[in-house]
Amino acid sequence: MKKIILTGDRPTGKLHAGHYVGSLKRRVELQNSGEYDDIYIMIADAQALTDNADNPEKVRKNISEVALDYLSCGLNPEKVNLFIQSYVSELTELTFYYSNLVTVSRLKRNPTVKSEISLRGFNSSIPVGFFTYPISQAADITAFKATTVPVGEDQLPMIEQAREIVRSFNTTYDEVLVEPKALLPDNEICSRLPGTDGKAKMSKSLGNCIYLSDEPDDIRKKIMSMFTDPEHIRIEDPGKLEGNTVFTYLDAFCKDELFAEYLPEYSCLQELKDHYTRGGLGDVKVKKFLYSVLMEELSPIQARRKEWEKDVPAVMEILREGSKKAKEVAAETLQEVKQAMKIDYFA
Ligand code: TRP
Repeated sequence: MKKIILTGDRPTGKLHAGHYVGSLKRRVELQNSGEYDDIYIMIADAQALTDNADNPEKVRKNISEVALDYLSCGLNPEKVNLFIQSYVSELTELTFYYSNLVTVSRLKRNPTVKSEISLRGFNSSIPVGFFTYPISQAADITAFKATTVPVGEDQLPMIEQAREIVRSFNTTYDEVLVEPKALLPDNEICSRLPGTDGKAKMSKSLGNCIYLSDEPDDIRKKIMSMFTDPEHIRIEDPGKLEGNTVFTYLDAFCKDELFAEYLPEYSCLQELKDHYTRGGLGDVKVKKFLYSVLMEELSPIQARRKEWEKDVPAVMEILREGSKKAKEVAAETLQEVKQAMKIDYFA
């Protein structure tokens, strides 16, 4: 059986360092592994509209932003198919048919939907489109017969729901759809990079993000005001690592080779941590090191972004091409689905 990846992001903002360690970096590795027959990366504008119906401008503006972030991180349009969800109208048709296989009570129990409903304050006024987005996400995945869906932990209930839809479809009609598996980030820090304020997660609404496209000077400022150990007041004080955002980021980004260049008094991260917990190491020094470490990773990304930014029409053309190809593949699946459902009258 072919190995096929599908994943995506809602275009509601620029991508940040949390997206990078949590998914983008992995996608580039998967792309370069050569292990997959096809890789689809989708900009989920239709899904973004399920809770931004009154703000289409925001979604539109972020299509090219997210595409620029993808390309600058090293996703290569020769190897992966980058496309826009709404262009593939077959996904909407599939969603409609799948919705007959899902109950309202099952959707209500979906933990991701549940927590997002309270997060967005929808309570009793939940848009139907938002409520049913797990079904649309199952359509995204199955339209491409994806076997593998790289996502963060918060998306696991979505994949589970997609698997149920596949099983239900295949037993009710015919063996057409493929059951996908989630592929989680391989280390825990990377799956949940905290915000610069130490809060659970980077999130635009909390204003605690380091964006991939932030100017180096802004990144420096954000790092310098990062949350550390509030009880580590004087340099001599012993410091705590737990909940110390600067060290969490170092865990996510630091490679021991970088010490030789940027902080030669230490040979590895463990040595730096030991000194910090013993006392005698100031936050500013660690923060400056973190800045160097982060920029080591982000500079090439930013340089590529500057290049692509000069030619946004070329970026849009990549999306157009990718969307056309994605549409062809989804149309084939839709045809099989209709045949299995006995609604292919003129075939
Ligand atoms: N729900 C995902 C997010 O919030 C985006 C998404 C839409 C997606 N469709 C998908 C992810 C299909 C994986 C597979 O970012």
